[in-house]
Amino acid sequence: YPVESIRNFSIIAHVDHGKSTLADRLLEITGTISKTDHNKQVLDKLQVERERGITVKAQSASLFYNHEGMNYLLNLIDTPGIQAQTVANFYLAFEAQLSIIPVINKIDLKNADPERVEKQIEKLFDIPTDECIRISAKQGTNVEKVLQKVIEKIPPPQCNTADPLKALVFDSTFDHYRGVIANIALFGGEIAKGQKIVSAHTKKRYEVNEVGILTPNEQPTHKLYAGQVGYLIAGMKEVTEAQIGDTLFLYKQPVEPLPGFKSAKPMVFAGMYPIDQTEYNNLKSALERLTLNDSSVTVHRDSSLALGAGWRLGFLGLLHMEVFNQRLEQEYNMSVILTAPTVPYKAVLSSAKLIKEHGKDQITIINPAQFPDKFSVSEYLEPTVLGTIVTPHEYIGKIITLCQDRRAVQKDMLYIDENRVMLKYLFPLNEIVVDFYDALKSLSSGYASFDYEDAGYQSADLIKMDILLNGNPVEELATIIHNDKAYAAGKLLCERLKETIPRQLFEIAIQAAIGKKIIARETFKSGSDKYGGDITRRMKLLKRQAEGKRLMRKIGNVEVPRDAFIRVLKRE
Ligand code: GTP
Repeated sequence: YPVESIRNFSIIAHVDHGKSTLADRLLEITGTISKTDHNKQVLDKLQVERERGITVKAQSASLFYNHEGMNYLLNLIDTPGIQAQTVANFYLAFEAQLSIIPVINKIDLKNADPERVEKQIEKLFDIPTDECIRISAKQGTNVEKVLQKVIEKIPPPQCNTADPLKALVFDSTFDHYRGVIANIALFGGEIAKGQKIVSAHTKKRYEVNEVGILTPNEQPTHKLYAGQVGYLIAGMKEVTEAQIGDTLFLYKQPVEPLPGFKSAKPMVFAGMYPIDQTEYNNLKSALERLTLNDSSVTVHRDSSLALGAGWRLGFLGLLHMEVFNQRLEQEYNMSVILTAPTVPYKAVLSSAKLIKEHGKDQITIINPAQFPDKFSVSEYLEPTVLGTIVTPHEYIGKIITLCQDRRAVQKDMLYIDENRVMLKYLFPLNEIVVDFYDALKSLSSGYASFDYEDAGYQSADLIKMDILLNGNPVEELATIIHNDKAYAAGKLLCERLKETIPRQLFEIAIQAAIGKKIIARETFKSGSDKYGGDITRRMKLLKRQAEGKRLMRKIGNVEVPRDAFIRVLKRE
């Protein structure tokens, strides 16, 4: 396949709009997979992806396609869909002058209205209505047109096989038997088994054991050439050896490394601790492997008086965090304690002592335990995002109220057709990370869409709130919160925690506190069990369950489910 016959492309769409289904149809049409595997999303490989129906991990595949007598090699990169950032991604692609092919999916649905969607796309993105391809990924309608447009509109990669090898590592996974498998894109030269290569990042040298293409499973080939996308196995044993964004070149033929990737910015941080400190090392190696597989997660060592040695992890959002946790359980058999998520706040320090300690006068706070009190701070700052909501107009009133409740400031309101409105709001990030999307969906019967992008920091009146059980702080429930919201949030947290912890043999005081001041209290009475039955028998059962699954941890003498915060925040 000469470079002129290669096309590299990816599908960008909102969660649930049908990316994976479209990718499957493309694989079928090109004969990459057989039609008999219908409905089975081939690119969504992980158990968690099948269960949740979302793409977590980008998967690539090479498709072979004959069009008007020419053979083409089309490399599809399936992108993860766990961020609501389609609009922002559109503008990134637009600014990078990439070719954009607009596709309207699900035209088979009874209430599909492609004319209207085309007009909206024209109004929002300035794309002429006749450029949109109307498809049904489910039924296969017009999917072939998508391939033809990919060939016509996307230019072949600009690179040369005669140049020295220049390979970008854009993904890597760990295989228990074969070590690190690096997914690479060749920007120059060629690569084959037996060649010696060097990592620009680590400067380490390797011998190539195997190269090949992804169809989407690894299929060995003799060589990979400039413009191609494929995989490489080269005896990399440590997960840190194949960093995403690294450049590989031939030994003694060094090249200028590629710029790599701007790393995704974590928006949500949480502490992660082994339930039992003896599991620390096992959890450490599971984390290393899983983060190699999901490079958008950041990891810093951390420790806590109550929870011992652990980590502070950064995620793209709450769903990303839950999925990561689920993967740790399913793929690595690890059960952990997660703390309440927090966004990255900042503090402008006024205390000379703290400034000296940190070597700077502004710090980022990703752990409530490190929240400096107001006497040593001249200003707190919180991250904000610019949110775009598109909704049928009948829901505007409710949505505006919701946004105001979330401390958001309206920036724009525009009718994109006679029935649909686009609202733009500046949101404090912490107001949207947990349940904003769910709230929006439920009050608009699922019709409103939400998309957001980073919008910098703003001044905020913040405090740290602790949750106490019989006077002992529940470290994983400590949060940084806006002052105006502390009372209501404290009350709600106490009420929900009361519903979450199992009944115990003694009375428990559940309190929310700011410093030494108690701002909310619930009392959890001992005695008869609300579920009926003999309480000692129930306790025994709970205990057995706790030992079996190790779901509980002790705070003082109170047993608390280890995922208390997720349940408390999500009202499960
Ligand atoms: P994420 O990976 O979570 O971003 O989702 P996705 O965009 O990959 O969507 P996916 O392909 O998983 O499809 C979401 C849902 O829409 C599934 O239930 C599909 O069966 C359905 N779907 C996809 N394409 C079509 C279509 O053309 N018509 C109809 N009726 N349903 C479709």
